[in-house]
Amino acid sequence: MALIVLAADKGAPGVTTAATALAAVWPRPVLLAECDPAGGDLAYRLPAASGGVLNPGRGLLTLGATARRGLEPAQIHQHTQKVVGGLDVLLGLMHGEQAAGLTWLWGPLGRSLAAIPNADVIADCGRLGAHPQLGDLIAEAEHVLLLTRATLDHVAHLRERLSITKAHGVVVIADPRNYRSSVDDVRRIVGQAVQYVHGLAYDPKGAELLRGQWGGRLDRSLLIRTARDLASRLAVGPR
Ligand SMILES: Nc1ncnc2c1ncn2[C@@H]1O[C@H](COP(=O)(O)OP(=O)(O)O)[C@@H](O)[C@H]1O
Ligand SMILES: [Mg+2]
Repeated sequence: MALIVLAADKGAPGVTTAATALAAVWPRPVLLAECDPAGGDLAYRLPAASGGVLNPGRGLLTLGATARRGLEPAQIHQHTQKVVGGLDVLLGLMHGEQAAGLTWLWGPLGRSLAAIPNADVIADCGRLGAHPQLGDLIAEAEHVLLLTRATLDHVAHLRERLSITKAHGVVVIADPRNYRSSVDDVRRIVGQAVQYVHGLAYDPKGAELLRGQWGGRLDRSLLIRTARDLASRLAVGPR
């Protein structure tokens, strides 16, 4: 089904948090895939569905070790784990150095993720720029979303990035106190280069809850409420 890529140009606007929030509320079966060449974070942020800890060694690294001879979409699930709430996750690399030997992986991985028959895939691609081969994965996506904070420096870098990386949409991590105007400001600056500009709440409490046990309070957080709105705009139409 659909591959949805989330990435950023500079800084840490909250790509992993946004990818996790979107996957948590996605209206169809979904796999959250950590494809950040700098390494994954979720093994240390989320408990396993069993209540124990995730195995940080099982994920992109084990997939890469077996995929040299070819990668079929059906193989992916042999390397995923279930986190709290039942969400399937493909954990990322343990550190950035591991990406050096896996530059060949991004293209085949993108093709396989886009071809998983019974689930959409939300891929956290981290910061763009340092790993050009990641473009081979991004090229397979139905939606490429670039995240940004609403500050001028972030948006200026984003505008430059959009001349290099073709994206479908921009997601502004926007302060709830001036949510609409922040999203509108960014839309004025980069709106020509993409099909849509949406918002996602800047919500430190919600972001913190998303790193823990995913309780009932999380469901009412602004982060999750705006993620639900974003998911409904992206996951349109029956599959
Ligand atoms: N929407 C948000 N609102 C408030 N804080 C956030 C949000 N997204 C991320 N954060 C915080 O910012 C920091 C970086 O988040 P992370 O998702 O790891 O960013 P990235 O993947 O872009 O490096 C974390 O401390 C996280 O809790
Ligand atoms: Mg990240």
